[in-house]
Amino acid sequence: MADAEAIAQAARLLEQGKLVAIPTETVYGLAADADNPAAVAQIFSAKGRPSNHPLIVHVARDADLSHWAVDIPPVAQALMNAFWPGPLTLILQRAPGVTDLITGGQDSIGLRCPSHPVAQALLKLFRQGQGGIAAPSANRFGRVSPTTAQHVVDEFGDPGTGPVSAVLDGGPCEVGIESSIVDLTRLATHGPVLLRPGQISLQQLEQVLGCQLATTDHAAPRVSGSLEAHYAPHTPLALIDNQALASTITALNAKQRHVLVLAIDSQGPEIAALDREGLRRESLHTTRMPSDPHAYAQALYAQLRALDQLGADLILVEQPPRTAAWQGINDRLQRAAFDSTGVLDRLMA
Ligand code: TXA
Ligand code: MG
Repeated sequence: MADAEAIAQAARLLEQGKLVAIPTETVYGLAADADNPAAVAQIFSAKGRPSNHPLIVHVARDADLSHWAVDIPPVAQALMNAFWPGPLTLILQRAPGVTDLITGGQDSIGLRCPSHPVAQALLKLFRQGQGGIAAPSANRFGRVSPTTAQHVVDEFGDPGTGPVSAVLDGGPCEVGIESSIVDLTRLATHGPVLLRPGQISLQQLEQVLGCQLATTDHAAPRVSGSLEAHYAPHTPLALIDNQALASTITALNAKQRHVLVLAIDSQGPEIAALDREGLRRESLHTTRMPSDPHAYAQALYAQLRALDQLGADLILVEQPPRTAAWQGINDRLQRAAFDSTGVLDRLMA
């Protein structure tokens, strides 16, 4: 775990224009001083991220938001009171001084106050608590977000050897999937819009907003997290309903495919038998995932990264319940599966 000295050193590195990987409660971020365009530019080159994709600016609890945003509506304040610090990003009208690199040239800005104690401590020290830390997830563009310090090292190499000067270790991320993003820049025409679901449910957000939340539409600003193919492992991934799981595994076994199954806790004896048989032939391995959505989200990216190392033909994911509590997880799984459309048919043919 990063101690006070490591955090102070990270604050100095950021002030010198260096990149530092930081823990947040959602995923690890690749951080730079948001007021330093040259530092922010390094984020894009390190990630291989297209330059028109805007970045989230992380702020301390009592930072002056007027440096970043203007015309902050009362609903924004209500959401901040309810969910900050925490896994919620608000899209607001940008202030004039903000660099175009942060906003992707749009007239809006994403702000978030993370709750992770290491991120909080860093934000408090960095520029005496009045700075902004630009940080996308600390992974290469399009890949699975990191939820441990080791994942960051796996992506970018040891600190000091590549683009990242330091990695602050904050332990495994508690939430495990990226923050919910609510766009408040088009209230008059669209009302509040949910651009990316996360751990905070639609109902929780709507309760505070006092109105319905539209989900993302074609008029929405660019969000790289809403590209259809995103968060994907290298191994093809397919989602399958629980009722079809056993028969699909049997069909894939018959074709001698090497399959990794991500199943939910409560599994019948049928899958267990298939698993034993597959294990014997080293063609099938089943990982049990928690049936609680928070615990599932916490484990998801680490599991996808670990399974991706095994060079299998397929990661077969049991479709979680299609309920509100699973919305953020289902969103990530659908995107992870997008590149692999049709893969099941090919592997069973
Ligand atoms: O949980 C999180 O949000 C993590 C941690 C590190 O804070 N960050 C994260 O950043 O997921 P990133 O860059 O991987 O995803 C941020 C998303 C992107 O899809 C980006 O397009 C969107 O936020 N975004 C940022 N600023 C925006 C803006 N002004 N308008 C619309 N979308 C914006
Ligand atoms: Mg990302």
